[in-house]
Amino acid sequence: MKIGLIVGSLRESSWNKKVALVAKELFPEDVEVEFIDISNLPLYNADLDGANPHEEYQKIRDEVRKYDGYLFFTPEYNRSYTPAIKNVIDVVSMDQAGSAWMKKPAGVFSASIGGFGGMAANHALRQAFIYTNLIPMQQPEVYLPSVHTLFDENGNMVEDTKEFLQTSVLAFVEHVKLVNGAN
Ligand SMILES: Cc1cc2nc3c(=O)[nH]c(=O)nc-3n(C[C@H](O)[C@H](O)[C@H](O)COP(=O)(O)O)c2cc1C
Repeated sequence: MKIGLIVGSLRESSWNKKVALVAKELFPEDVEVEFIDISNLPLYNADLDGANPHEEYQKIRDEVRKYDGYLFFTPEYNRSYTPAIKNVIDVVSMDQAGSAWMKKPAGVFSASIGGFGGMAANHALRQAFIYTNLIPMQQPEVYLPSVHTLFDENGNMVEDTKEFLQTSVLAFVEHVKLVNGAN
């Protein structure tokens, strides 16, 4: 099983990236987990697409196709998910060879320094899964509020959050197996 992690924040010291780095280590050993870098992907423009797509569009489409499932980590921007995530969803969905998202399992973990844990962003992203036919893990729902308080002074995630993340990652692995087994 090969899982792609997609972080919606482009900030070097992103909290969501920190959460993703912890989550990456919580996958079972036999699961391959890699980050999919979306930081240099140009905004989708149909004029740069078609028979000869922009090389960055082609590159990310080929990259995304390699994975059996995707785990998104999103901050909340104005009650929605980030433009970097929207962009990769759009670019990959317009692949003339067929969208790599189609019928693939996906999970959404959101984190915010605010009190709602990025819940609005998390739900908005699930809406984009409808048309792209990504199949979301419904439970557990992963919203991490006040994320800046969930790491200690050494940068380690606090134990109860880590346990919750562990349970959620294992549930995601089961979801990926279920969806791919049923494909
Ligand atoms: C443009 C913008 C809009 C934001 N809107 C929200 C919001 O609607 N809800 C919220 O909880 N936090 C909001 N925030 C705060 C972010 O969730 C917070 O900065 C978070 O740490 C960003 O995630 P990151 O650390 O992974 O980059 C916003 C931040 C930015 C830059």
